[in-house]
Amino acid sequence: MGILHKLATGLIKTLPPEAAHNAALRALSLGLGPKHSCDHNVLKTELAGLSLPNPIGLAAGFDKDAQVPDAMLAAGFGFVECGSVTPLPQAGNPKPRLFRLPEDQAVINRMGFNNKGLDNFAKNLKSQKSKSGIVGANLGANKDSTDRAADYMTGLAAVWGLADYFTINVSSPNTPGLRDLQGGEALEDLLGRISEARQNLTGDQPSPPIFLKVAPDLDFAQIERITEQARTYGMSGIIISNTTIARPAHLKSAHKTETGGLSGQPLMRPSTRILAEFYAASAGHIPLIGVGGIASGRDAYVKIRAGASAVQLYSALVYKGPSLAAEICDDLAARLKADGFTNVSEAVGTVEP
Ligand SMILES: Cc1cc2nc3c(=O)[nH]c(=O)nc-3n(C[C@H](O)[C@H](O)[C@H](O)COP(=O)(O)O)c2cc1C
Repeated sequence: MGILHKLATGLIKTLPPEAAHNAALRALSLGLGPKHSCDHNVLKTELAGLSLPNPIGLAAGFDKDAQVPDAMLAAGFGFVECGSVTPLPQAGNPKPRLFRLPEDQAVINRMGFNNKGLDNFAKNLKSQKSKSGIVGANLGANKDSTDRAADYMTGLAAVWGLADYFTINVSSPNTPGLRDLQGGEALEDLLGRISEARQNLTGDQPSPPIFLKVAPDLDFAQIERITEQARTYGMSGIIISNTTIARPAHLKSAHKTETGGLSGQPLMRPSTRILAEFYAASAGHIPLIGVGGIASGRDAYVKIRAGASAVQLYSALVYKGPSLAAEICDDLAARLKADGFTNVSEAVGTVEP
């Protein structure tokens, strides 16, 4: 299995990015993915009531149609977020729409929520989720929807009972106008409707956590407003962050001028700065999930110390393959112990090392 996995990973890297991604999904669904347990007591933690074996999650976008959550849990991830899924299937933007920036260890994508829709997503979750770990559903809105806020309610209703948590993604830069839902009255209206839908769906059962996923391109006034509204409407946590529309001057790769969201190494610093600002704004009252540029145990540790209760990653997998989750776990556990922490939660929001 080890050799097969290495061979498959090597071959996949020679393909154009989107074909490589589809080949990786196929290999994973055939059971060719790595198998790692990530068993460190110091990493076991709680996130908004979810018990995680470790705080390293797979970010949304890798498994948009919930084809391989179990394979990614088996690779060592502590939780897996599938999606974004929209109510109706949609093709996304014309190809090419996914670009590697190898010199920058980065990716630019303008996929545009290509996915097979909620019915297929719910069917996949039902048939293949073996209760082997925590699987979340990241919800988006259709490009042509006339009431985008309503699409999130449709998503909640369709997947309720099938996912361990939900993420409301209002921060993709590739659906024009979507990120306007992060602002003032639009956000208040959306969160109000989510809170109502949640009450109706929950009845007297405990509700699964619902997270809000935000962009990194926000100023402190926006961060304060989002934090306050998220708390007011009972959101369970904030995921920080999605890809950025910014293009740092230091990018070197040929594809650096492509339109879309930038992720990977160049996003590490800005997304961690925004995470720290959310932590300051929330004073630790709402759990934060740190995403953006994580490629090592050290990166994960920096996010945790900046205020993240858990982290997620995607782009680094493009360069390092799915075994990275277990590598990060081992390194993070060693760093926590070396600094005298007995549990990852003790390190959340402490001064950056
Ligand atoms: C190809 C690609 C597709 C993505 N699709 C989604 C998506 O559908 N929904 C979402 O919330 N985030 C999506 N993301 C954003 C990631 O979940 C993550 O927030 C971002 O890439 C930063 O993390 P990273 O630097 O570890 O990749 C996507 C990212 C990439 C690279």
